Amino acid sequence: ATGGLVDRFGRVATDLRVSLTDRCNLRCTYCMPAEGLPTLPKDAVMTREEIVRLVGVATRDLGVRQVRFTGGEPLLRRDLVEIVRDCAALTHRPELSLTTNAVGLDSRAAALREAGLDRVNVSLDTLDPDTFATLARRPFLARTLAGIDAAAREFDLVKINAVLVRGVNLDHASELLAWCLDRGFELRFIEQMPLDADHAWDRAAMVTAAEVRDQLGERFALEPDEEPRDGAPAERFVVRDRTGRRLGRVGIIASVTEPFCGDCRRTRLTAEGGMRDCLFAHTETDLLGPLRAGADDAVLADLWRTAMWGKQAGHGMDDTGAGTDLDGSGFSQPERTMSA
Ligand code: GTP
Ligand code: 5AD
Ligand code: SF4
Repeated sequence: ATGGLVDRFGRVATDLRVSLTDRCNLRCTYCMPAEGLPTLPKDAVMTREEIVRLVGVATRDLGVRQVRFTGGEPLLRRDLVEIVRDCAALTHRPELSLTTNAVGLDSRAAALREAGLDRVNVSLDTLDPDTFATLARRPFLARTLAGIDAAAREFDLVKINAVLVRGVNLDHASELLAWCLDRGFELRFIEQMPLDADHAWDRAAMVTAAEVRDQLGERFALEPDEEPRDGAPAERFVVRDRTGRRLGRVGIIASVTEPFCGDCRRTRLTAEGGMRDCLFAHTETDLLGPLRAGADDAVLADLWRTAMWGKQAGHGMDDTGAGTDLDGSGFSQPERTMSA
């Protein structure tokens, strides 16, 4: 077979997310347990060459155009700069981006840009050191902020991701937005998803997109952005102050209450080289095993295409169809956490 990563519902995956490691130096409550998770043995994790080989298959044979490196925390890979450089040298060079907690980014941002990285998204839930330490279970706010400064110097576009947790940082939302608008960062608020290791996610406690809009509305005026969303997870709004002056933009990623599965353009690779067609998938297709056993690019591309064909229509958290009980109870949380 030839062609791109098409599924039965006609969606085409042109966006690849690659987890470079399952390890992380933070322990965000909505992701990791306090004691961390068992980490993969080193030889189970894709090497730089293996990553570049699979990114090459994705971009040359499968039509992938955007590649995002994630984790765990991708900065924990000592060879991150080299991985970026090798991917930037591919014939069908994809757009290259990084999602990071920015701890340690200050010393590497320039090298990453020189290697070919195009953009950076940083997770930052609060500007208050104590709240940061509560949410991330590590007192690293200053290091994250230093990383964000460096990213702002090196990259044209910096996006900030914030997960709001009731009773913890919900009332910091407007302050965080004001801070991002001042600096020209595009802030996105993310609904908390059931991808935490502790399985403590609670639909009733989750801060919804509607609530975020209400909260921000107390200080800003939001209007829907005219620009097409193009499969992006965030719904974007233009932000104005009370006098109508335009301050910038904000996004809300409402995976739970307003899912965007119908327009999903993603495929993912775990650090172990497993292909997942969705964050919430219960199955994976091993690509690293066949690669190590000598499969050529055409075989790897075919495995990837076949796996993509099996992608479900949606995650089902919002499943309100006939015969369901309006609460997404057909949904079950996958084994893998966001970090994995
Ligand atoms: P750009 O829009 O290209 O900048 O990237 P992104 O927003 O897709 O990437 P990022 O890694 O910054 O992810 C931000 C948030 O999007 C994550 O925290 C998730 O909440 C959400 N997200 C990412 N991928 C998926 C996905 O496949 N499905 C769903 N439902 N949400 C996702
Ligand atoms: N729900 C929503 N977003 C999450 N992230 C991590 N865990 C969750 C979760 N359970 C976010 C991080 C980071 C991005 C990659 O995913 O805050 O910004
Ligand atoms: Fe690490 Fe990101 Fe998970 Fe926080 S959300 S523990 S920074 S992988």
